[in-house]
Amino acid sequence: MSDTVYPAPAGTDDSIDATRADAAWQRAASDPEGYWREEAQRLDWITPFTQVKDTSFDEADFRIRWFADGELNVSANCVDRHLATRGDQTAIVWEGDEPGETKTLTYRELHRDMCRFANVLKTLGVKKGDRVTLYLPMIAEAAAAMLACTRIGAIHSIVFGGFSPDSLANRIQDCDSTVVICADEGCRGGKRIPLKANVDKALAHCPGVEHVLVIRRTGGDVSMTEGRDIWLHDALEGVADECAPEPMNAEDPLFILYTSGSTGKPKGVLHTTGGYLLWVTKTFKEVFDYREGELFWCTADIGWVTGHSYVVYGPLANGATTVMFDGVPSYPDHGRLWETVDRLGVNILYTAPTAIRALMREGDDWVKKYRRTSLRLLGSVGEPINPEAWNWYYRVVGDERCPIVDTWWQTETGGILISPLPYAIDLKPGSATKPLPGVQPQIVDAEGKVLDGATEGNLCLTDSWPGQMRTVWGDHDRFFQTYFSTYPGKYFTGDGCRRDADGYYWITGRVDDVINVSGHRMGTAEVESALVSHVKVAEAAVVGMPHEVKGQGIYAFVTLNAGVEPTDELRTELRQWVRNEIGPIASPDALQFAPGLPKTRSGKIMRRILRKIAENDTGSLGDTSTLADPSVVDTLVAERIG
Ligand code: WT7
Repeated sequence: MSDTVYPAPAGTDDSIDATRADAAWQRAASDPEGYWREEAQRLDWITPFTQVKDTSFDEADFRIRWFADGELNVSANCVDRHLATRGDQTAIVWEGDEPGETKTLTYRELHRDMCRFANVLKTLGVKKGDRVTLYLPMIAEAAAAMLACTRIGAIHSIVFGGFSPDSLANRIQDCDSTVVICADEGCRGGKRIPLKANVDKALAHCPGVEHVLVIRRTGGDVSMTEGRDIWLHDALEGVADECAPEPMNAEDPLFILYTSGSTGKPKGVLHTTGGYLLWVTKTFKEVFDYREGELFWCTADIGWVTGHSYVVYGPLANGATTVMFDGVPSYPDHGRLWETVDRLGVNILYTAPTAIRALMREGDDWVKKYRRTSLRLLGSVGEPINPEAWNWYYRVVGDERCPIVDTWWQTETGGILISPLPYAIDLKPGSATKPLPGVQPQIVDAEGKVLDGATEGNLCLTDSWPGQMRTVWGDHDRFFQTYFSTYPGKYFTGDGCRRDADGYYWITGRVDDVINVSGHRMGTAEVESALVSHVKVAEAAVVGMPHEVKGQGIYAFVTLNAGVEPTDELRTELRQWVRNEIGPIASPDALQFAPGLPKTRSGKIMRRILRKIAENDTGSLGDTSTLADPSVVDTLVAERIG
């Protein structure tokens, strides 16, 4: 079957065309020192670096350091340096949950808000290197809070507002945050999210937290603990408008962001100052071909890495105008994105396949009701985009005018690694196309043998790039073991990947025990441990299953304790239990009571078989002869859900 190919359109004189893209890729591979020395001039350095790249993925001299003796400040790069030329330009367009509930902030206003916020943090005793946890809706103050942390060298850790009090508590404890910043409530799709009340519950288990800074968003009733909780608007009274940026070493920590892995509790992914900022600055400019005066809208929440890199840091470092959206695509109706695109005049839209599929299901009329003529470029991120969804996005949303950048990356990579440069490469629906300059992918088989040419296997990266994560907070050994021990000398992404005869990469999804639900990463082990913490559950095994809108859904097999009746009420109770333990995104889509789980004679659960059952691919269960009791499989197949 031959793939449909959409030829790259002509860009502007400044766009990266095919010739420039090739030259950059070659140069980055053959002369990384020279290439990155020049690229790093995109940033303003307080102290210029002399060292460029100092990296090794080998166990004996494992290290990842970029521009290590340079000094800079992220907030100065994102805000101060634009004041002279674009102080009155809009930096942030905030779009609330209700359409037209809009607020804009110029770079000058953002500078003032950020400095004042930083001064408040100082009065709370926050110092360079301290961790500050943010649990916030998508309000402009969230960007100011992030920048305020970077202003004074504090490390922010943002926890997505959809996580439960327990998940929040774990993340606060893991990095020993002393200050939490939250809002009274969030608003999503017309509903209120009790953020402050969740913080109160979480803090019952976090004695190390000294202060909670509360931002008034809805005016809803919240309880304030005397001596601990402070309203931001009170704290801001009489605070100075200026705060000098702290000079930070390029390798000083910038932020921690927790993400799920195949084992254990979520890992605190640590990014540092210079390399991360350079990576998001460059990829934002080049992948979206961002042009002066354009309005960029990434619909991601700042609780995920996409929000960090492409709502806040990448756009602002480039002096762009970025939209912060505090709503959802389905509220008040399924035309919300397109109505907002028209009303605000959005030029670049960056969203997730799950949103595209959900809207596609509602029919073309919701889209066609609006003009969308401002759109120039469309982006996709978070999970593989199936060709049907790609084509719908291209034809119906973009009127066959707008190239689509399908961007593959991870929390760990800091920013985009494999993606079209839209004016340089022909597009194939469903392929993230080719690596960006400086990115060296390799496909290997299960034993680590390098596979060349057209092939399929596991995706690795053979060399470092500046935006790479530097460690797992508090557990450097776990960092090495997780990413560099499977295939020695290489970074293993956890993704499966096909490369076609034209050298295009097609990400096929996770090959580890991580599932991708609506573009959100979920460790099956986390859901399992939530399930077994329920008194009635003896054992649980969780796998992914195909889901029309979410990409993958969560399928849980649950063995109950002896004597417990498997009822529909209990099924509902267990799903609710997981919601409460982790958050709504972890709630199982299917929950099957299993009298027994398929295990080898040594007691290992055979997930391969459970995956097949969840996928309803029971005709090819493979060899079950090594099972301790092969008959459990028949029962599971017979009682399969859906
Ligand atoms: C995992 C990373 C990328 C930031 C948001 C998610 C999957 C991401 C794509 C894509 C196919 C993709 C991978 C990756 N993924 N983008 N364009 N095509 N798969 O970050 O939560 O760290 O998840 O998302 O499986 O490993 P994350």
